[in-house]
This record gives sequence, C-alpha cells and structure tokens, in this order.
Amino acid sequence: MAVERTLSIIKPDATQRNLTGKINSYIEAAGLRIVAQKRIHLTRPQAEAFYAVHKERSFFGELVDFMISGPVVVQILEGDNAITRYREVMGATNPANAADGTIRKDFAIDVQNNSVHGSDAPETAAVETAFFFSGVEIVG
Ligand code: CMP
Repeated sequence: MAVERTLSIIKPDATQRNLTGKINSYIEAAGLRIVAQKRIHLTRPQAEAFYAVHKERSFFGELVDFMISGPVVVQILEGDNAITRYREVMGATNPANAADGTIRKDFAIDVQNNSVHGSDAPETAAVETAFFFSGVEIVG
C-alpha cells in the first residue's frame, strides 16, 4: 500500500459545535496521522478559489457563504491509502446516505453542513494540500 497525504477540512458547522477533538479521534482511530493542522477563518476569495471546481453548481454561493461563516481547521492526513481511507471515514457527502460509524453519520447536519472535506484523488490532494500548507508546516 502506498503512503499518501490528503487535505482535510473540519468545517464551520463542526468547529462551531466544538467537535474538532472528536473528529480528530475518528481520524486517528482510522490509522491516519495528522501531520499538519491549523485553525483559520477563510476569506471569501480563498473559499471561492478553493471550491472553484464547483463554481457552476447551483449551491456554489451557499457553499462559499457557509465556508466563511466561522473558523475551519485545515489538516494534512498521512497514511496508507490516505485519500480513500479518509473518504471512508468521512462517509457519504449527504449524511442521510452515510454509513454507521462515519464522521458525517455521527456529526453532520445536512449535505451542506457536512462537517468535513477530504480530497477526492491524488491530483486534487496535491493541489489542496499546497493551497493551505508550505513544506515547513508539514511534519511527518
Ligand atoms: P465537500 O466534500 O467539501 O465538497 C463540496 C461541498 O459542497 C460538499 O462537501 C458539500 O458541503 C457541498 N455540497 C455538495 N452538494 C451539495 C448540495 N446539493 N447542496 C448544498 N451543498 C452541497
């Protein structure tokens, strides 16, 4: 198995409910190592740039408003097959479809307020981790 890194965001609905530690415990229990982490408040241009791939979607404006509504915790997770593994731990985008024991099943409110983001492929993981972190901030 390949050791990978993936970008995680603990979203405003979760930081507002003080769930950072609980979500981190799911991440670590899944065998993923948090090798970088910081709490930030995204600006509108930052959120629009991060989610640019969704800019034609009907929910883009609401998504950006949500992502700048409070602090987020951005993280880099490292481990065997970290990209796929984290997506398993997060559960389906819509918590109504998420499997038992996943972060979104246990904590997410709805498809927008879904508590966490994780990169979906190696190419996006590389772009997304570089969006938030420089090399010296990543300590494996
Ligand atoms: P994320 O994995 O961060 O990727 C894009 C985000 O857009 C997604 O999680 C949700 O927060 C949001 N999203 C996806 N689909 C919808 C939808 N139908 N309505 C509102 N928000 C959505």
